[in-house]
Amino acid sequence: MSNASALRAPTAPATPAPGRETALRPEVNQAHVRFIGLGKTYAGQAQPALHGIDLNIRRGEIFGIIGRSGAGKSSLLRTINRLEQPSQGRVLIDQVDIAPFDEDRLVALRRRIGMIFQHFNLMSAKTVWQNVELPLKVAGVAKAERQRKVRALLELVGLAEKHHVYPAQLSGGQKQRVGIARALVHDPEILLCDEATSALDPETTASILELLRDINQRLGLTVVLITHEMAVIRDICHRVVVLERGEVVEQGEVWQVFGSPRHEVTRTLLAPLQAKLSAALQDSLRASPASREAAVVLKLVVIGELELSGLFKDLGGQVSLLQGGVETIGEHALGRLILSVRGSAHEPHHLLERARRWADDVEVLGYVG
Ligand SMILES: Nc1ncnc2c1ncn2[C@@H]1O[C@H](COP(=O)(O)OP(=O)(O)OP(=O)(O)O)[C@@H](O)[C@H]1O
Ligand SMILES: [Mg+2]
Repeated sequence: MSNASALRAPTAPATPAPGRETALRPEVNQAHVRFIGLGKTYAGQAQPALHGIDLNIRRGEIFGIIGRSGAGKSSLLRTINRLEQPSQGRVLIDQVDIAPFDEDRLVALRRRIGMIFQHFNLMSAKTVWQNVELPLKVAGVAKAERQRKVRALLELVGLAEKHHVYPAQLSGGQKQRVGIARALVHDPEILLCDEATSALDPETTASILELLRDINQRLGLTVVLITHEMAVIRDICHRVVVLERGEVVEQGEVWQVFGSPRHEVTRTLLAPLQAKLSAALQDSLRASPASREAAVVLKLVVIGELELSGLFKDLGGQVSLLQGGVETIGEHALGRLILSVRGSAHEPHHLLERARRWADDVEVLGYVG
């Protein structure tokens, strides 16, 4: 992956990773793609596929779009390169409204925006090399430059050895690498990924995500990514938006949204990532206390460090850890704990209040014993 520099002019300034500076003015700072009051209703459909979308995607970030099937994710993504025409509102790329673009400007725009797909969309009768070279040929790029470019890209995606084979001889992950190389031929500034890892096994997914992260960091590309796999969002996205029935229901930094999801849909989508209650605990949980001695079971989500001794003291009584673990999202530790509290002097709703002083999200799951 040493050839990334060959793909960009060496003098190009490095794009800063989204971080503290961008967080200062999140609404306006460095918007690369901006949706303003965006709506889309397909012909013959009573319900809009997208409605009132106001959203900024920042330059250089990996931005995730999640939501249930039919929520409008692909429709939203495809307005960025005008594969879909909005019915209302505007899409700005680098502050420029793309709605009035004529054919020529649209072709130029689509070269600035690469796209990869779930099913790779490779040409089966062309070799790996020819698949990557084709868009350059179509654009009238001279042969020497095409060769330099294809070689550098195949090197970047780790497929230099496979340049002469046909797609049928490649694994799914290798096909997607060709798709990525092809998407990068015009040095795009934005890469759109619609379910790009959905057809891959977990190990291959991990290697493709590593490649996307590498491209994001080395080339400073803005990546917009749709996936049904929440672990993909957790592992590589900086920020995420949740769509439901064509509207934004939640958005923010991944660690915040995953740490304390506010919307019901987000909670449902994220459920597979959360440790299931053990069968024994599930069986013994009651909605109300069976006796005065019953223990309250609390679920806590903590972003960052948790001072357990302080929490335990505040809850009072006998606190036991039933289940728990810590995962890392970006630079943030995210802890999930299930505790039982027995014999505390505090009423359950007071326990909840007290636990909230220490944790970012607290829920009473029920009672045991
Ligand atoms: N070309 C089309 N013509 C008519 N309706 C469409 C078209 N494309 C999408 N829709 C409708 O728009 C809504 C949003 O579809 P979209 O494909 O954007 O959802 P999605 O979130 O990408 O779903 P999935 O996760 O299943 O890919 C759906 O109700 C869908 O049926
Ligand atoms: Mg879709």
